Formats: sequence, C-alpha cells, structure tokens
Amino acid sequence: MRRGAVLQLTVFGLAAGVITTVVALYPHWLPPTASEQADRIGYVFWYATIICAAIFAIVAAVLAYSVVKFRAAPGDDSDGAPIHGHTGLEIAWTAVPFVLVTSIGIFSAIVLARNDRTGDNPVRIDVTAQQFAWSFKYPQNKNLATNVLRLPVDRPARFTFHALDVIHSFWVPEFAQKQDAVPGIDTHLTITPNKVGTYPIICTELCGLGHPLMRNTVIVMPQRAFDRWVKGAGAALSGPGAGKSVFTSQGCGACHTLQAAGATGKVGPDLDKLPEEAKKAGKPLDAFVRESIVNPNAYVAPGFPKNVMPQTFGSLPKAQLDALVQYLVESSKGAK
Ligand code: CUA
Repeated sequence: MRRGAVLQLTVFGLAAGVITTVVALYPHWLPPTASEQADRIGYVFWYATIICAAIFAIVAAVLAYSVVKFRAAPGDDSDGAPIHGHTGLEIAWTAVPFVLVTSIGIFSAIVLARNDRTGDNPVRIDVTAQQFAWSFKYPQNKNLATNVLRLPVDRPARFTFHALDVIHSFWVPEFAQKQDAVPGIDTHLTITPNKVGTYPIICTELCGLGHPLMRNTVIVMPQRAFDRWVKGAGAALSGPGAGKSVFTSQGCGACHTLQAAGATGKVGPDLDKLPEEAKKAGKPLDAFVRESIVNPNAYVAPGFPKNVMPQTFGSLPKAQLDALVQYLVESSKGAK
C-alpha cells in the first residue's frame, strides 16, 4: 500500500476513535457506583466498550477512505474491476472477533462468580415484595423489620427475596444489579456497598397500577453506626413506646393521619377515626385494628379503594404487631 493511503487511513481512524471516545465518556451514561459488584460490572462494561470503539474506528476509517478513494468520476458509468475473496482477510475477521467475544464471555463469567461470593460473615436480609412496597427483615437481629433498608458499608449483604403476589424486581441503580422477586420461589443477591450514602430502591418490573410508587430507600452507613441503629431500633421496637416506633419505621404516616404521631398522610383512612370505623364495621376496636393491618382488604373504609394498603404487615414479628395495635387503639381513643 502507498504511504499516502496508510496516512489517510490512520487520520480517519484516529478521528473516528477520538469522536467515539468522547461520546463514550461524556455525558456520563451510568450513575456513580456504590458497591463492589457495580465496580466489577463496570470493568466488563468498559472492556466491551473499548473493544467496540476500536472496531468502530477501524471500520469507519476503511469506509471513509473507500468513499474518498474509490468514488466514480463524474460521467464514469463503467463497471468496477472484478475481484475475488481474500483468504488472509477472511481468516482475520473471523479469528479476531472470536477471540474478543470469547474474552468478554470469560471476563463476564469471572465477574458473575466473584459477585456472588458472600464471604464468611454477610448481613442477611429477608426482603418481602408486595404491591406496592418493599419490606426488610434482619433474621440475625431477631427479625428486626424496617421499610428503610440500612446496610453496613464494606460488608457483604446477602438478600433473600420473596414476593407475595406478582413478580417484582429489586434495583438500586448505584449497586448496578437487579434481582426479580418471584412468588413461590426464593431468589438471592449479594451486595457489598462500598460508599456511605443514601440511594433509591426501585421496583423495575411492571407490577400493577402502583408500580411507579414502589420505591424505598437504602442507607449505607459505617458498621458501628449500623450496630448502634440495630440496637436502638431493636430496643425501641420492644420497650415502652414500641408501637410508635413501629408506626414510624414502617412508614405508616406516609399514607395515614394520626395526631399522636404527628402524621398527616391523606392516601388512606384517618387513623384518629378508628373507633368510628370499627363501629361501622361492627367489630371491637382492637380486633378491627389488628385485622385492618394483617388483612387490609377484609374491611375497606367507604370511599377508599381496595388493594392500596400493602398486605405485608402481617409478617411483622408478633411483638411489634401487638405493640402497633395497642398504640393505634390508645392513640385513636385519645384523639379529639
Ligand atoms: Cu413492584 Cu413494580
């Protein structure tokens, strides 16, 4: 090949390479990462992206060169010279992609295997998904239950997912991984958060009308702060004032009004009016309150739709459920 042709191909290739690299780097296509698994997935992503950018630059350079070099002169209607295949080229464009694609596959398999490792001492978390909320339990801490997930930083967390109705999917963009929660089977995921912070938990499987509202929060905190929270939350959920702590930690106030807790939610029935509702339903107050928490569709207050209140609260540890019922009975009786 002439020196001029090589020079032209090189210039086109470099130009295409630079443009592709800029598009790959800006804007930032992915959220910042906050877990070891996300970092490993990032390595695979960039490995594949660099290969793609290099191949694109080569193809674009040859294409641009051909357009310039071999374009027909005005008025030239003659046929091009007949050509036949090029064995060397054909072997190259089969062998090189084979090696590259195989290497991406091997790299991905290694990352998947590493990402599933839990180490000796993972935090175990039971996740229950239901239209339309996530709830979390810590089986190593007396099944401490919460709606705001808390994780210690730099320690693997092993999740077990259950779904009570339809398929949901757990996703924290900063953790990069997704895992479906499927009725009837347990699914698992390991996450090792490596940055302290607060991140959104998003349901990423269309699961019904409330799907876009199925969002919770995860707070990643230093191990000592996590231990303190577990201790404090555990004590708050069993000692005096336990009912109010359950009410707060389960997020009841987001949808309900209750003077005693300073809650002003308007999505669900006003809990200060529980005694009147119990009368309408024809049930004793504490039985009515318990049933409305465990099986919210048994009696739905007039004017409110069915299936909006999550049916997950029946899985609260019994002591917490008892405390919540007692708290609601007493607070609503005391309300004016
Ligand atoms: Cu649950 Cu979408």
